[in-house]
Amino acid sequence: MTDTVFITGVTSGFGYATALRFAKAGWKLILTGRRTERLEKLKAQLSSVPVHIITLDVRDANAVKQAVATLPEEFKSIKTLVNNAGLALAPDLAQKVALEDWHTMIDTNITGLVNVTHALLPSLIATGKGATIINLGSIAGQWPYPGSHVYGASKAFVKQFSYNLRCDLLGTGVRVTDIAPGMAETEFTLVRTGGNQKASDDLYQGTTPLSAEDIGEQIYHIATLPDHINYNRVEIMPVRQAWSAFAVDRDK
Ligand SMILES: NC(=O)c1ccc[n+]([C@@H]2O[C@H](COP(=O)([O-])OP(=O)(O)OC[C@H]3O[C@@H](n4cnc5c(N)ncnc54)[C@H](OP(=O)(O)O)[C@@H]3O)[C@@H](O)[C@H]2O)c1
Repeated sequence: MTDTVFITGVTSGFGYATALRFAKAGWKLILTGRRTERLEKLKAQLSSVPVHIITLDVRDANAVKQAVATLPEEFKSIKTLVNNAGLALAPDLAQKVALEDWHTMIDTNITGLVNVTHALLPSLIATGKGATIINLGSIAGQWPYPGSHVYGASKAFVKQFSYNLRCDLLGTGVRVTDIAPGMAETEFTLVRTGGNQKASDDLYQGTTPLSAEDIGEQIYHIATLPDHINYNRVEIMPVRQAWSAFAVDRDK
């Protein structure tokens, strides 16, 4: 029987690359995101495998529940969930950003991720051995930096939620991984800066960031590990990115 993967946020970046990677291996795909036109285009591109697209805002718990309850029969049994949909907003310092942006990050990266996880747990547990939940965390969930405020905190939630899920799912065969990428070139910075293409280009210029395909490959690797192995957390940085010294406030 062909395995099925459910991926959130496939209209760009990691989600898109992950969809292509699983399609290459012949998996059945459930692909979600808010931009319908991009979903339809991707489905047309992946004509060699069964694809079910759903226009879905992960923040809407009822819509998520409904989408899962109405999956076509051939897509009901799910082997892998990739909780990828997420975003950073407001790269300025905490004291300068809009409260609304904090709420949007919490609603998407935390509430959205738990909405999808809760709706799919019964199917993943029914699959049992070899089923996998892969949550997109971030290095920002582990390491602080200026302007990360709620974004980094939301990814720390993803890390701890992933660990805690492992405890509860012990004995079911379902694995859980927090994959935490560093700098990767996608639409992430364009979204974070409110559509500033130059700011996005400048960030990735003159260095070698991770690519969406790099992460898609790792996600596929984690999903296809032998059944008895669980990667708890995978932190991945480009070689050309590292930590910096502590900042110190000095008398002027
Ligand atoms: N790029 C990086 O440097 C980096 C590093 C570490 C972690 N991450 C994490 O990796 C994940 C993917 O990011 P990316 O870099 O691939 O960014 P991206 O290119 O901007 O893609 C983000 C995806 O999330 C979807 N999305 C956003 N809000 C959504 C919502 N409310 N409901 C459903 N889908 C939603 C977007 O689709 P629609 O707009 O069509 O809904 C899009 O497909 C995120 O969780 C991000 O925090 C990124």
